[in-house]
Formats: sequence, structure tokens, C-alpha cells
Amino acid sequence: MKFTQFFTITMMMSLTTMINAQQQLNPETEKKIDILMSKMTLEEKVGQMNQYNGFWDVTGPAPVGGTAEQKYENIKKGLVGSMLTVRGVSEVKAVQKIAVEQTRLGIPLIIGFDVIHGYKTLSPIPLAEAASWDLKAIEKSAQIAASEAAASGINWTFGPMMDISRDPRWGRVMEGAGEDPFLGSKIAIARVKGFQGDNTFKSPLRIAATAKHFAGYGFVDGALEYNAAEISTNTLYNQILPPFNAAVDAGIKSVMTSFNTINGIPATADRYLLRDVLKKKWGFLGFVISDWASIKEMIPWGFSKDENEAAKSAVEAGTDMDMEGGIYVPYLIDLVKTGKVKQEHVDDAVRRILRVKFELGLFDDPYRFLDEKREKEIIGSKANREAVLDIAKKSIVLLKNDQNILPLKKSGQNIVVLGSLAESKNSPLGSWRIAADDDTAVSVLEGLQKYKGNSLKYVKGLEITKVEPTFLTEVQYNMTDRSGFEEAKKAAKEADIVVMVLGEHGFSSGEARSRTNIDLPGLQQEFLEEIYKVNSNIVLVLTNGRPLSISWAAEKIPGILECWQLGTETGNAVAEVLYGDYNPSGKLPMTFPRNVGQIPIYYNHYSTGRFMDKDNNVFWSHYSDVDKTPLYPFGYGLSYTTFEYSNLKVNKKSFAKGEKIIVSVDLKNTGKVTGKEVVQLYLHDEFASVVRPVKELKGFELAELKAGETKTITFALTDAELGFYNHQHEFVVEAGTFKVMVGGSSNAGLSMKFEYGN
Ligand code: NOJ
Repeated sequence: MKFTQFFTITMMMSLTTMINAQQQLNPETEKKIDILMSKMTLEEKVGQMNQYNGFWDVTGPAPVGGTAEQKYENIKKGLVGSMLTVRGVSEVKAVQKIAVEQTRLGIPLIIGFDVIHGYKTLSPIPLAEAASWDLKAIEKSAQIAASEAAASGINWTFGPMMDISRDPRWGRVMEGAGEDPFLGSKIAIARVKGFQGDNTFKSPLRIAATAKHFAGYGFVDGALEYNAAEISTNTLYNQILPPFNAAVDAGIKSVMTSFNTINGIPATADRYLLRDVLKKKWGFLGFVISDWASIKEMIPWGFSKDENEAAKSAVEAGTDMDMEGGIYVPYLIDLVKTGKVKQEHVDDAVRRILRVKFELGLFDDPYRFLDEKREKEIIGSKANREAVLDIAKKSIVLLKNDQNILPLKKSGQNIVVLGSLAESKNSPLGSWRIAADDDTAVSVLEGLQKYKGNSLKYVKGLEITKVEPTFLTEVQYNMTDRSGFEEAKKAAKEADIVVMVLGEHGFSSGEARSRTNIDLPGLQQEFLEEIYKVNSNIVLVLTNGRPLSISWAAEKIPGILECWQLGTETGNAVAEVLYGDYNPSGKLPMTFPRNVGQIPIYYNHYSTGRFMDKDNNVFWSHYSDVDKTPLYPFGYGLSYTTFEYSNLKVNKKSFAKGEKIIVSVDLKNTGKVTGKEVVQLYLHDEFASVVRPVKELKGFELAELKAGETKTITFALTDAELGFYNHQHEFVVEAGTFKVMVGGSSNAGLSMKFEYGN
């Protein structure tokens, strides 16, 4: 409200350090580190700050660490603290043995890997999982990923990615939790818990996690990969940082810097973010790793004159480990010896790295993650497959269901399945799955074939890509070959229902996969329209790693199911939902635009000074060519049943500051089958010292109701939900009028107002 009426609470920022139970020093460990560090030479210390890529699975430009032999030699010299993408018990053992048995001090390596949505048994891509809004299932999924990776000798994952992004052109939205900081924070916590368990690492099946990419990578200009980001204080503090802060509070062990610059400073040299905010204000005790060669990349950015300067800027800013950049070992030693870099920066970095190694139990037993028997038992187990099937079903979002075209009847129907993605066993695995074997997903077709009651025919009709892509090749869509159209049209004409599996190949999203056009790529739109001409009874099964613009389909096609890339069990999950054995409950974690020109489009935008409707005149906030609303809003998703919201209540009309606000709503399942609904609560602060978004998600609950059942759902709101960061980076809660909105999407239907702190 008015400036004079606001009161500032410093709870969020400074209390974080004070009450952060998960970032506490253990005096015994610190003592052990003191003793070890007192024996280390400067070279050995800088060695701990060096990470090499293994000898395969390159996930960046050509490695600079040298040949395998040179790397082995450097491990022996104590010049390597960590390896990435070494995997499998025997391989990890081979390198770990060198570090432990052939170096002067025997300090074990920490082995890192991109365990992004599973190791060998794959869960849905992270964006899909976010659509489940099911925190327990998300935690379980990370736990399974951790257990398989740990059983393969890995100690540390480069995930979860928690970059908030409002730009579906950016390929990496598939790795995150979407556009919202509240949902993103809850999911970040669930994933950290899944990977790290209770943070004691007593179990050899939990691994250290990494909050990445710190910070602002989801806001790169034009969604162009590795680009610059210009970010306001408002956006940085209220949108981008909250999930990272939440992950630190949950006890995360490492943080990875991002490739972008933020307001002109490369994130890897951002002293303010790394030292002042992350390490000091938030009390983070783990270590910071650069992204792949991002220290070296400060040279082409035009920030560092040469490698010496790059090393100096990065270490001074607080980047503790150099991922495959080859910068710290050759330059940092001399920089310290000549007094150009303070020894204390190196000591701080090494202490942090050693701390995590101690916490992981690597000093007690460097081979504790290396057990061949466990490796065989755990990786790909039946239990793991069942768990990823569960989260896969929960990730599916029903976007449209006119005349209840879904679920499919179990018998007596003539169904034709079209599109090469239907038979793909590779694309459903999605991007970032370097430990999984190609072609190991259950395809949509295989899933459907398990239902025997209908006549099921598959006609490819369209090969969506020219050649099968890989993680390291650009996807080339088929732009010319229509030779299968006629056969597909013939089959479609005779069918009761046409299931068309269209979208993006799994390798169309992920790192370095930005697109400027997010329509159905290649000939797919044309194919869809051709089939529609002969039979409009189409169920569109979308598989994609980002929101797509599908305005034509949204208008014409009666059934649309958003199936993303669901991992190993894709086909089984999709078939169960299509046939109604699982009632979909997913809700979009990112807005679907009508077309690419609306981007960035997001639900928690500001109001404008010209909010009036088009009846007034032309000078109002709108587009001349397209409705300004999204095609499908954040939080949207249907079910095979229907829900009715009523009786929204706030326990009082007016609250004193610090008082808890209790909001309740009745939810009724008004349909014929049991279903789950994500009940969402949004808040709007009507007047504030900084303009507030029209609504912000501040609570959600997943409720399951039998047909006809009513449940009362209750939320408690505190200052943490009511406040925001102002331009002075302070968390403030201002007195005033708040509007609370509750419903099944960000277009929440019911609303009420209450006064707070007046
Ligand atoms: C670059 C990516 O940006 C990062 O997310 C990943 O963890 C590293 N490469 C290692 O593969």
C-alpha cells in the first residue's frame, strides 16, 4: 500500500543464514579439513579445483584437458579434484584408484554426471514432471535417478536445473520446472530431497545435487543459447532467485554458474551473486562449479583479456571448480604465488570441495559407491520402471476433450495410428539421457497394442525427421517427403478414431536447441490438416520438450493430449491415459502461446495503465492481429471428470501483521469417475510501492475425489507468501488489500479480498 504504511521484514534474506538447518558446519569435519589442508601444497589445492571430462560423452566443445594419458598423469600428480561423465563401477574404480592409491595425499575424486531425468531408467523430462504438480512423485523420480547413478559409481549430479523461463523458444525449458518461481521452488526442494535424501549420505544410493544455472540463463536475449541476459532487480529477486534460495535452504551441495552474462557480467565472474548473495546472505556451504569451460569463455565475451585474467576473475568471484576449462591448474598457481590472487580464495574453494567429499563419505571409503553387485541389481530394476511409469502418467496434460472423444472405448472401435513418432522408441527418451541406451522407450504404438479390444492399425504417413538425430546432431525435419500421405488418408477415412502422434523429436529441445518457430515442425501441420479433411475424429497426442503454438489444432481437433517426452515407460503411460485406465490430472507449468509473437507470455504479468476492453477504442493494450490471452494458460489441464469450486472463505476480513490467513474452498467432483485436481491459490497485492503482478501462485494442493465427493481444501498464508523483494533487494510485506483467487488454473474462478496489516 502507501509507502508510509509498509513494514519491512528481513526474514527471507537474512534469516536464511540464521535458521538454515541444512547448511550447518560440522566442527569435526572442519577439523579434518584443517588437518588435510595443512598438508596440501598450493598445486594440490588448485588440483582440487580442477574437473576433467571423462574420455567420451562430450557435452560441450572439444575438451581441453588433453589426451586420456595426460589426464591420467595429472590425476597421479594430484592435479585433479573431480571427473565428469566417467560412469560404471569398473570405469569409476579405475580413475578413483589412481587418485586414492597413487597420489601423495590420496584425496578421492568426486565423480559428476548429468543425471537430469533418470540415469538408465528414464523418467519424463523435468518440464513434464513439473506438469504433475505432484511433489512426492517428483521426489521419488529424483530418488530413482540418484539410486541408479550412485549404483554406477556416480557421486554427484548436475541437476536439478531451476532456471525460470518465460520463453519456450529456449530449448532448455525441457530441463526445468517452467515459468513460475513458487512452483519452481517447491519442485527444486523435492528434487534436492530426492537426490540427497536427508543430506547425511548414510545411504550409498543418494548423491549430491547441483542447483543450476546460476543465474538468469532462462532469460537470455531472444532465447538464443549462450547469450546475454539483461535482468531487472525485480525479475532477478522475485522470479529467478527464489528456487535457488529454496535449494540452498534444502541443503544442496553445489551450484553451477550459467553461461550467460547478467547485465554485462559473466555469471561465472559475478562476485555479487556468488559471494555476496549465495555464499554470504544465503549461507551456502557447498561449492560452486563453473559450467563447461565458462571460465575460459569470458575471453570471447570480451570480459577477460586472457586466461590469467579469466582465472583471477572467476576465483575472486567465488567459482570454486573449473569444469573442463583447463584454466585453474595452468594459471591459478602462479597467480597466487605472485600475489595477484589471494591465497584465501583458493583456500575457501578447496575447503568447500573437500567438505562435500567428506560429507559424501568418500574419505571414509572412497569405494563406497563402487559395488558391482549393487550396480546389477539396481539399474533398470522392475521397481524403478514401475516408479517412472507412475510419474509418466501423472505428467500428461489433457488439453482438449470435445464431446468426450477420450477416453477411447476399449472395444468395437476401428483405430488408426499415424505419424512416425508413434513408433519411435528413441524420441520419447527426450534430451539429456547420456547414460540410457538408444531405442529403449516403450513406444506409443507398443503401449496401444497392449489393448486388444479394438482393431488397431498403424500407418506411418509421415516420417517426421530426415535422419534419426542424436544428442550431438541438429534435428533435421522432413520438409519434402509427402509420399505416405495418401495411404494415411485412406486408412483415416475408414477409421472411427485417428490417433495422430505429432510434435518434436526428443532431441529438438535441451542445450543448444533454441528455435524461432514453435509450430509443429516440418510437414506435420500440413499432414494434420490433410487427415482432418477426411476424418475429423482426431486425437492428437503431442510429444514435445517445450510449449508449442498449436492454435489451429486447438480450434479444430477434438482431443488433444500433451504427452511431452515421458521417458522409458512413455507408451504404457500414454495408452493408459488414452484408454482411461488413468485419469489425467496434469496442469501446464508453462503458458502455451497462440503464436510465437506473444513471447514472452506468462500468467504473472503486470497490469497495464490501459486495461480497458476493446469496446472503448483502439488505444488499449492489445495486439491487432491476435487475442492477447494465451492459448492455454499456466496451471491449465482437464480431467475425464469435472470439478466444481464453491464456498471460498477467508477466516477473517482483516488481519493484523504477522497473523496467519486461512483460506478454504469446497471442491466437488461433479463427473462420473474418480479424479485428481490441482487446486491452485493465487494472490494479488492491489496497491504496492512496486507494481505487483496481476496474480501469483502462492499455494497448491493435489486432491483426489471420488465421483460425487466434496472436499474442503485449506491453505495457510503467511508473510512469506504476502511479501516480495523491492528494488533495494529487501523482502517486504506491505499493508493493504489483497485479492485471493482459487481455482483449477491461473484463470482461477473464485476470488475474495482481505485487508492485511492496516
Ligand atoms: C553444459 C551444460 O550447460 C550443463 O548444464 C551441464 O551440466 C554441463 N555442460 C556438463 O555436461
